[in-house]
Amino acid sequence: MKQSLIVVFLAVTAFASVARAGDDRMKWFNDARYGMFIHWGLYAVPAGEWNGVTKYDEWIQLEAKIPCSEYDKLAAKFNPEKFDARAWAKLAKDAGMKYVVITAKHHDGFSMYDSKLTDFDIVDATPYQKDPMKALADAVRAEGLTFCFYYSIPDWHDPNFPAKYSMRNGFHGNPTEAADIEKYNQFMKGQVRELLTNYGPIGILWFDGGGSFNKDDPLRAKLVHAQEMIDMIHELQPNCLVNNRLGLPADYGTPEQKIPGEALKTAFEVCMTVNDQGHWGYNKNDTKFKSPETLVRNIADIASKGGNYLLNVGPTAEGEIRGPEADRLIEVGKWMQKNGDSIYGTTGSPLEATPPWGRVTQKDKTFYLHVFDWPTQGKLPVPGLPATPKKAYLLGDESKKELAIDIPPEEVMTIAVPEAAPDALDTVIVVETE
Ligand code: GLC
Repeated sequence: MKQSLIVVFLAVTAFASVARAGDDRMKWFNDARYGMFIHWGLYAVPAGEWNGVTKYDEWIQLEAKIPCSEYDKLAAKFNPEKFDARAWAKLAKDAGMKYVVITAKHHDGFSMYDSKLTDFDIVDATPYQKDPMKALADAVRAEGLTFCFYYSIPDWHDPNFPAKYSMRNGFHGNPTEAADIEKYNQFMKGQVRELLTNYGPIGILWFDGGGSFNKDDPLRAKLVHAQEMIDMIHELQPNCLVNNRLGLPADYGTPEQKIPGEALKTAFEVCMTVNDQGHWGYNKNDTKFKSPETLVRNIADIASKGGNYLLNVGPTAEGEIRGPEADRLIEVGKWMQKNGDSIYGTTGSPLEATPPWGRVTQKDKTFYLHVFDWPTQGKLPVPGLPATPKKAYLLGDESKKELAIDIPPEEVMTIAVPEAAPDALDTVIVVETE
């Protein structure tokens, strides 16, 4: 082949593979809109309480300043015999979620899977001796959902993770002078390799903590070999997504516990706890939870801004997702079953301003009006719809009985609606347009 032809050929194939990878890799994620986050680890044993103080969660080791010599003893008490992978996967499915992200290792450094690189894991260090991630990966996929791993960069247990890079002025459960970040990087890469080799296709590698240490150091991404890590992930599983907490923007952003005020320019996923106090890991004293109404409206709000909602549960050390958390997810799931069309596969609102009564999502020529505040006059004003409406009906109404649309010249279009809100959580009106 002539030189110039080779160049053209290479350029075309390189371009094609990048373009294809870019589009396809994100599609399932953008369509999903709603997933389950699970923070489950050794910290579930103390259940948020240490020496009479009851406010802790997955940060208990740091916050109660527990050295590894004490903390490691929790492993002997960790025996999640009630863990039922199929029940968790079914709950996620019934809740209307499309993917599950679970903590393979949190900041305490305890591996929730069978790692050959440490004995500080659920198989080697606990009476349970089984690998719950294997069972969960299978069960989640059997429900048709995507299985994903969370992985913490900071590690308060591994002696090679330097305390100076840890959070809150350098906490480590077992600090040593000889800590060597390069050795730690090798360990981390080895663990990520295990996660991507032994558990089938992984949807997301959800890193955490990469931004929390050395915040002002522009070399942060270098320190943890972020690009090398991403390259290795892509080599092992080209379709695996990576969130932005490794120190590089990667595939998508991760606002936490708060919904952005407006649509973001890049793909994003808001992670949030079902409980009100923001405990990710199990806290037995935290008994206040968000209402199904809040959760449904959060899903709609985030979808209207083009993002995903990753909703967190913190299972107990026995291996159960608590009743109040599960009940709320089921309620949301019932709404999703009726109204899922207005969430899955949608794009954000096309309107310039957020309507005072709620939110809007879109799928091609169909618009979904999420009415949180039902109008009292039997008429819903819909300003600024960027297309000519053909018909409107309630998404929850199987008969699709048409609602009258009124488009007076020079005035705001209105839709005639029933007197009372048909769905107290969020009534969705479908508007099909030309
Ligand atoms: C925060 C918490 C961490 C949790 C994460 C989830 O960074 O400190 O424990 O895993 O949020 O986004």
